[in-house]
Amino acid sequence: MQALEELRIKNSLCTACDLADKRRNVVSGEGNPYSPLIIVGEGPGDQEDASGRPFVGRGGQLLTKALQDAGISREQVYICNTVKCRAADWSTGKPQNRPPSNEETLKCRQWLIPQLSIIAPKVILCIGAPSAKNLIKRSFKITQERGIEFPSDYSEVILASLHPSYILRQQRPGNDGGYGLLVADMQKAWRIATSS
Ligand code: URA
Repeated sequence: MQALEELRIKNSLCTACDLADKRRNVVSGEGNPYSPLIIVGEGPGDQEDASGRPFVGRGGQLLTKALQDAGISREQVYICNTVKCRAADWSTGKPQNRPPSNEETLKCRQWLIPQLSIIAPKVILCIGAPSAKNLIKRSFKITQERGIEFPSDYSEVILASLHPSYILRQQRPGNDGGYGLLVADMQKAWRIATSS
């Protein structure tokens, strides 16, 4: 889709914040630009930064599996992030991923909001609290408010679910760490997105 490609090219040249200094790739997004469902994560990690593709690392593999378990393929949806460049702490020499700052998140809205407007999905599924706080409301509480439908300026419905990295940290033998909730929220989002 031409408008999205033009936006991606402009985004790839962005120097609006310091994340531009150390990034290898701007991770704009990928998938079906005509999808009724867009998934918005937090921001790229090491493998996403290296490949230029969203959700391809360990968390990304869990996200892809959850989509499959929800009966959705990655190719059916559009996947992107709140922040398009990797946020990491470089102070120890070895980069450690960190949540994007408020300033980085605000600056990156110049890419995310046009992306949402061009794709114009029926449903936005925010993955993780930073995405939900950015697109739903500042006070969003992910464990209490995940799976709840909210109105949005950018879609008919917006909802949020747990982040794969959080789920991976919570998982124990006999405890899925919230994986089932992520699958259920994806199913709900897809049901709304594909209903007439
Ligand atoms: N976590 C995210 O939020 N987005 C990615 O692209 C990868 C990991």
